[in-house]
Amino acid sequence: MKILSVVGARPQFVKLAPIHKAAKAAGAEHVIVHTGQHYDPMLSDVFFEDLGIGAADVHLGVGSGTHGVQTGAMLAALDAVLEEHRPEWVLVYGDTNSTVAAALSAVKMHIPVAHLEAGLRSFNRRMPEEHNRVVTDHVADLLLAPTQVAMDHLASEGLGQRSVLVGDVMTDVLFDVRDRVSARRPSLLQELDLEPGEFYVATIHRAENTDDPLRLAEVARGLAALDKPVILLAHPRVVAKAAAHGVALTQGSLVSHAPLAYPDLIAAVLSSAGVVTDSGGLQKEAFLLGVPCTTVRTETEWVETVQLGWNVLANTAEEIASAVVRSRPASTDAAPYGDGRAAERVVQILSVTTV
Ligand code: UD1
Repeated sequence: MKILSVVGARPQFVKLAPIHKAAKAAGAEHVIVHTGQHYDPMLSDVFFEDLGIGAADVHLGVGSGTHGVQTGAMLAALDAVLEEHRPEWVLVYGDTNSTVAAALSAVKMHIPVAHLEAGLRSFNRRMPEEHNRVVTDHVADLLLAPTQVAMDHLASEGLGQRSVLVGDVMTDVLFDVRDRVSARRPSLLQELDLEPGEFYVATIHRAENTDDPLRLAEVARGLAALDKPVILLAHPRVVAKAAAHGVALTQGSLVSHAPLAYPDLIAAVLSSAGVVTDSGGLQKEAFLLGVPCTTVRTETEWVETVQLGWNVLANTAEEIASAVVRSRPASTDAAPYGDGRAAERVVQILSVTTV
């Protein structure tokens, strides 16, 4: 069996790692196509190195641009790649512009396409990720859902017949990396002279929080007022927007820092007092590591983290301040994100499914 994975943005490299491992273990041929959506070494190369993926087989070098320009460039470049490789399956991941471009390209070339992390919904039609998810789910032939909630969304959109609950591949890779780093002192603590449990890890990069100057200023103010140092692992988007809007990313408790490699991030979160983020992946990673999370958004796709008490949505500076100092939630045995063997299941299902 030949699987062709299309990835392009940081969270997709994390999900690619366990799939690559499972594909190799099953003796499948796995072709990796990198669109080039993320190109900074700290957003791309370090993930391939640290997570044992090796190198992409094809690099489209698309880079940044408006949604139309970026997605269109990927679509234009993918035809020839898919034609050359003619895989049994094109596998697309998550909800980025790389996901929707690859799904459209494959379906138009009559190549079966499977969507990993299908069925997530924020029901916020202003989010580019929501457009990407809905379009991808409706064009894909096979929908690989991470949670029962995602399965329910797919069923309610008439897509239940094409959907399979596989669990979350991020759990697979996270448990692996956690076990590798749990004994070591995180590099971030050493570098910034921080004590375990005496700082927060923050990431902010979504358009809803970065693109409007007043909104970004409010989020920065909220983080700067917290009771412990807040280490903001700043994505290039927030750095660029903050510079353009004249918003300081180092002020009060807030300290701006470059993004971390995945093992260093996991080690830092494990040692932190909590996470404050607008990332999808980090909300779940915090939950799986038993670290309280505050999500700087008005809704989340990962509703299980909120229902189980480990995640609180907080949008204003005041809401962030009170959410972060809340008392620690009760521990839970619930495992809404699977058992850490989702990738094996994905490869197995691809090998027995024909469309
Ligand atoms: C993308 C995804 C988002 C995901 C995030 C993970 C879409 C619509 N959004 O957002 O869902 O959570 O990746 O990180 O696909 N930039 C660089 N270097 C890079 C990449 C980006 O400097 O390597 C800067 C550029 O100024 C660029 C901006 O960041 O214009 C935004 O990048 P883009 O890929 O459009 O979206 P992300 O914000 O990274």
